[in-house]
Order: sequence, then structure tokens, then C-alpha cells
Amino acid sequence: MLPAGIANAASLRSMPHAPGGLFGLATVFTARRDPIDFFRQHRDAYGDVVQLKLGPFKYIITHRPSVIQRVFVENAKNYMKSPLYRGLRPVLGNGLLISEGDFWRKQRRLTQPAFHRERLEGFVLAMANDARDMCTRLNAIGGEIDAHVEMMRVTLRIAGHTLVSTDLESDAKDIGHAVTVAVEFANIYGLALVQTPLWIPTPLNLRFRRAMRTLDAMIDRIIEGRRRSNELGSDLLGMLMGSRDENDGGAMNNRQLRDELMTLILAGHETTANLLSWTLWLLAQYPAVEARAREEVHAALAGRLPTFDDVSKLSYLRAILDETMRLYPPAWSFERQAIEEDVADGYRIKAGTVVGICTYTLHRDPNFWSEPDVFKPERFLAGAAERTKHSYLPFGAGPRVCIGNQFAIVESVVVLAVMLQRLNLSLIPGQSVALEPQVTLRPKPGIQMRVNPRS
Ligand code: HEM
Repeated sequence: MLPAGIANAASLRSMPHAPGGLFGLATVFTARRDPIDFFRQHRDAYGDVVQLKLGPFKYIITHRPSVIQRVFVENAKNYMKSPLYRGLRPVLGNGLLISEGDFWRKQRRLTQPAFHRERLEGFVLAMANDARDMCTRLNAIGGEIDAHVEMMRVTLRIAGHTLVSTDLESDAKDIGHAVTVAVEFANIYGLALVQTPLWIPTPLNLRFRRAMRTLDAMIDRIIEGRRRSNELGSDLLGMLMGSRDENDGGAMNNRQLRDELMTLILAGHETTANLLSWTLWLLAQYPAVEARAREEVHAALAGRLPTFDDVSKLSYLRAILDETMRLYPPAWSFERQAIEEDVADGYRIKAGTVVGICTYTLHRDPNFWSEPDVFKPERFLAGAAERTKHSYLPFGAGPRVCIGNQFAIVESVVVLAVMLQRLNLSLIPGQSVALEPQVTLRPKPGIQMRVNPRS
């Protein structure tokens, strides 16, 4: 049956079909081998809306703003998170990123205040101090570093200090490794045709279970430390622990707390680390942009650490970050599954169909962007207005838009400003850095940089 408001089948448009091979296996194979190329090739060959079989799923790839508007915003309640996110469930449990329905709504309401403006203001000092400490350490060591490892480390430390008032620095190496293993697992498990139960001791499962022991131990330590202190505290953890169910007055149990904390710490530090890493990668190749950024920081701060009020003044830094997220969106793809049949801009979307957006290809679509592959922060400065609705979605769209988007922007501006003030980095020549589109878009194998003496 057609949804209300659609008079008859004659008003529907037909959608191009791409071949999926036997049982949709060919598409699974190509999507796994090079997922970004998979989206790009389908857009180039079939246009901005195309359907195909991806393993057992009917799958629609869309680069069309009107379809995005319908699925992610206007009729969002008819869509749930994609079954292809199942790889995240053993890691994140029923945390905010993948929970659904009334439970998600309640958790989002509870969590939202931790990201209000007044809270963000209070976080800036910790963000700036952590960034300054990193710069001091790197200047003292000098030599070669992997910028991506350093960005993961500093954003983890910031997440620890701001969200749960805990110093995660000492575990940074183990946690960093565990996050990498967990993310790789989620990726492989999500697209696997058959999911091997976790108790079977395959090498992948064993690696994953070890990684989860490390991550769970980190979360347990945070929760236990807070329970022992007998004070809730006013951070995110305190808020979650102090929250009471509207109906039965019950507190969140340890499992729910664990899932929410794991989600916020992982979603919160890995994405921002990727944004900062790709920013360093681009700045090192565009010295004029880097010089202008340094000038802006110098003029605004004259050597002191940034405050919350400075963030809005550093508009060129913000444009650099926006442009980096256009070219290298940390959340490079996301999906929904239709609960009931729907019609989006005249296209029928059958119940059970998965609708996927690839922000990497959307953000480089020549229909929306001039010179789409060129790094031009100016396009995000006030007045430039190149961006059109739903052609730029680094933080998603609709009710499930990233809860941490302002946190991420403030953090990235602050860390970048402090780095531009205090570090002189250059790329180690001759390296090739590839895209690693896992759950987030990582640089592979990392970004090797030299810490030069400061002039
Ligand atoms: C540059 C950094 C970040 C990027 C690019 C990013 C991107 C995204 C995107 C695209 C979504 C929507 C996914 C979907 O629709 O399926 C999302 C959701 C989410 N993000 Fe972020 N994010 C970033 C930073 C953060 C931070 C700092 C936090 C928390 C501290 C965070 C926590 C979350 C959570 C909890 C959700 C799920 C929200 C919900 O469904 O209600 N993210 N993020």
C-alpha cells in the first residue's frame, strides 16, 4: 500500500537498478574491497539514486538532497538504524548511537544537557591544557611522530577529562590498540555474510574479546571510581548516574551506563582524532593556508591559550576544519532501514530497504561543489555560501544528528589553535597515505610527521 499523500502508483518514478550478482554477492564483495569506490562507481554509472542488492538487503544509494531530506529528516520515524550496524552492537551494546525508539529518545534526552553551551564553556580549559601538554611533550621528544596516533591520544585524554573527569592518559596505548581492534571487528562483522558467534575461538573473535576486556576494564574503572567517591559529580557520568526513569524512578543499571559511556568515549574521540589528523595532513601540503591560520591564531590569542569566546573568533580555523570534513568526512557513510513502505521524491522505498549515504562522495559531488577535490577553506567563510541543503552532512541530519557536534567543533578549534601556536610539523617525504574507511575514515597507515625546532 502506498503511504498517505501519494495518490496513485502512476505518480511514482522508476529508479535505476544496478546488478548485484547472484544473491547480491558481487556487490558485497566490491563494497568490502573498496567501499568508497563502490559508492562512487554507482553514482557515476547510475546517477544520484540507484537501487541494488547487497547480500540479503535491498539497498538504495542516494546523493539526492530531496531523498535525504525525506529519509533522515521529514519521515525519520519510519526509519531505523541499518542492520549493517550489527557489527557495532558487541562493542557499543545498546548505547545512543544504535539504540532505537522510546529507549533511544529517553537516553538522548538524558544525555543532551551534557553538551549544552554552558557545559562546553567549562570544557575548553581542559581541552586547551591537554593540547598544550601534548605540544610540550612532542617538542621535548622532537623527531618523527605518527600524527594520527598523537591525535587519538589527545582526544582520548580530552574525552576522559571532560566527559568522565578521569585521566585516561596512562591507558592511552592499550585503549588505542583496543579501539582499533574493536573497530576492525565491527567492520568485518557488519558486512560478513555469516556471523560467527563470539564464543567460537576464531583469531578475529579472540582478538576482539581481548580488546573488549581492555575497554570494559576502562569503563568499569571509571564507574567504580565514581561509586566509591560517593559523589555523583556534575559531568556526563554524574548526570547519567543521577538520572531516574520517569515511570519507575529507577536508576540506570551498570549495563546501560557501560553502553552509554563506551559509545560517547569511542564515538567522541575517534571521529575528532580523524578530523584533526586529516587537517594536519592537508595543512602540511598547503603552506599558504597554514600561514594564514597561524596569523589568525597569533592575532586573536597573542600566545595565550584559547578560551570559549575565542572559538567563534577563529573563523578561518573553523573554515579549515569544515573543509577538511568535506574532503575527509570522519563519518564517511551512514544508513537507515525503512520500517514501512515510503515514497521519497517520487521514488518508492519498500519496507526493509536500506538507504545509504556516502558523505565522502556526496561532499565531492561536482553537482554541488566547484573544484570538488581541491582544498579551499574559503568556501566555508561567511559570504561564500557554496554549501546547499543536504550536500554537506559531516554530522548527519535530522533527529539523530550527532549529539557531540558542537563539542567536536569547539575541541578541534581549540586543539588546532594550540598546535599552531606551539608546534612546527612537516610531513616526512615519500610516504603514501591511503583512506581506511572503517567505521570512521582513518588515514592508513598513519601520518608520519617531523617535529621541527620552533623558529
Ligand atoms: C568530528 C567529529 C564527529 C563527527 C564527524 C561525528 C559524526 C557523527 C554522525 C554523522 C552521526 C550520525 C550517524 C547516523 O546518522 O547514523 C553521529 C552520531 C553520534 N555522535 Fe558524533 N561525530 C563526531 C563527534 C562526536 C563527539 C565528540 C561525540 C560525543 C562526545 C559524538 C557522539 C555521537 C553520538 C552519541 C551519536 C548518536 C546520536 C543519536 O543517534 O542520538 N560524536 N556523529
